[in-house]
Amino acid sequence: MPDLAWLDGKIMPLTEARVSFLDHGYFYGYGVYEACKAFAGKIYALEEHLARLDRSLRALRITPGRSGAELARAMKDLAVQSGYEAVFLYLQITRGVGKRGAAAPENGPVITMFATELETMTPADWNAGVAVITLPDERWAHPDIKSLNLLPNILAKEKALEKGAQEAIFYNERNIVTEAASSNVFAVLPGERLVTPPLDGRILEGVSRLMILRRARENDIRIEETYFTRAELAQATEIFITGTSEEIIPVTGLDGARVGGGTTGPWTRRLYDIYLRAEFLK
Ligand SMILES: Cc1ncc(COP(=O)(O)O)c(C=O)c1O
Repeated sequence: MPDLAWLDGKIMPLTEARVSFLDHGYFYGYGVYEACKAFAGKIYALEEHLARLDRSLRALRITPGRSGAELARAMKDLAVQSGYEAVFLYLQITRGVGKRGAAAPENGPVITMFATELETMTPADWNAGVAVITLPDERWAHPDIKSLNLLPNILAKEKALEKGAQEAIFYNERNIVTEAASSNVFAVLPGERLVTPPLDGRILEGVSRLMILRRARENDIRIEETYFTRAELAQATEIFITGTSEEIIPVTGLDGARVGGGTTGPWTRRLYDIYLRAEFLK
């Protein structure tokens, strides 16, 4: 069965789905997106994803013309029809199709979705962890909006791949760690301090980040939302990155140096256990 796309209420093979040349998403990256996952037809953290989508749409002054409930129903349909047990769901809403220029396109927003299989790491790869590099955060001033403007992110990821790493962690002009190119960052600093950068408008509020913080609180695990520098990160005994498709990925190499013992650490395991989707499937 081919992977499926959704366009204007119709489901079709992803490779056959087409959008217009005149889409403002194509011209300017003028649009927003959400990446969700579903297990057995149920979308993980649906309310949280819809709330963030709403914030992004408002920030870009896009009125989608379909309610959150309608979008959720369409995503669920797509997830079920995809035939996968674990599904990656991508939803994008652009400003619409119209003449190039600042005027709002005559034809309202374009909503597209697709579903593919959610790819997860093998246990062996997860135990080994991944390598990351650090790079200056050169993004625009609103990375808290989940917009389509991801050029610095994807260039950073390309650089990471060229260096044999999987992800790039950004630091700002004051050497403070912000987030990674497509994930949020957590670290265990000396003294067993679990930390993650705060929501100050300079990072995306990852749904995975949100859920991990929530689960940690429920389990009496203290995670500080606080600033830490690139030098402090280099002293971390554990680092992990989080994202919808990544879930929790242990980082065992940082700029060519080993992190902690060089394999996935105990806090990362513990948090993965409480975040783990098995819990969601209960
Ligand atoms: C820059 C950035 N930070 C963090 C995340 C993680 O967000 P979530 O956990 O909602 O997938 C993403 C996901 O795409 C991202 O692009």
